[in-house]
Amino acid sequence: MEKSFDAYKIIGDLAKFYDRMMTAADLPSQLALKFFWGLDAAAYQKFLAQAFAGLPKNFCGRLLEVPVGTGVLSLPVYKNFGGAEIFCVDYSEKMLDASKARAAEMNLLGVKFFQSDVAALPFAENFFDALLSINGFHAFSNKDAAWAETYRVLRSGGIFCGCMYVKGENRRTDIFVEKFCEPRGFFCPPYETLESLQKKLRERFARAEVSHVESFAGFVCTK
Ligand SMILES: C[S@@+](CC[C@H](N)C(=O)[O-])C[C@H]1O[C@@H](n2cnc3c(N)ncnc32)[C@H](O)[C@@H]1O
Repeated sequence: MEKSFDAYKIIGDLAKFYDRMMTAADLPSQLALKFFWGLDAAAYQKFLAQAFAGLPKNFCGRLLEVPVGTGVLSLPVYKNFGGAEIFCVDYSEKMLDASKARAAEMNLLGVKFFQSDVAALPFAENFFDALLSINGFHAFSNKDAAWAETYRVLRSGGIFCGCMYVKGENRRTDIFVEKFCEPRGFFCPPYETLESLQKKLRERFARAEVSHVESFAGFVCTK
C-alpha cells in the first residue's frame, strides 16, 4: 500500500484535530497556519474564496469532489447547492467515514460517497458538469493518472476548480513540506510551481485562470 494511503488513515483517526487546523478554529491552529503556511486571518479567507471561486453560489449540476477528506471545507458549501447531484471521492476510508458523519449531521442526505483512487475513477467519461479538487494534487502519488482521470470524467464546457500547494512561493512552507509533510506521506512530490501549473492547465483546458495566496494556487478552468 502506498505511503499517502497509510498517512491519511492516521489523519482520519485524528479527524477532529485535522478539522480544527483546516478551519483555523482555535489559536494554536491560527498560529500554525501563520507560521508554516504564511496564512493570517485575511489570507486564510482568500485561500477559502479562491478554492471555491469556480463554483456558482447556486450550482445545480452534477459535481465531483476529489478528494473530499473529512468534508470540513466543502460540505458546508453544499448546503447551498439544492438541485445539485454531488459525488464525493476519497481513497481513505477513515476520511470518508468522517465526511459521511458530517453529511449526516448536516442532513445532506443526497451527497454520495465513494472510496476510490483518483487514478482510476469509477465514472463514465464526460459524466460531470464540474469537478472540485481542494488540496488534492499535492497529495496524489500518481499525478499523471490523476490529471488524466479528472479530465476524462469532466464534460466539455465543464468547470475544473480548486486549489493545491505550489512550490517556490514561501520558503518556510517549502521546508515544512519537504521535512515534515513529505516524509509522513501527507504530501507527495513532484510539486507544481505557479508557472508550471499555469502552463499545464492552459495546455489542457479551453480557459484557465490561476491565482495564489502564499503557497496555495487556486484554479478555475473550463474544459
Ligand atoms: C490534504 S487532504 C485534503 C482533503 C480535503 N479536500 C480538505 O481540503 O480538507 C488530502 C486527501 O487526499 C486523499 N488522497 C490521497 N491520495 C489519494 C488518491 N490517490 N485518491 C483519492 N484520494 C486520495 C487523502 O485520503 C486525503 O483525504
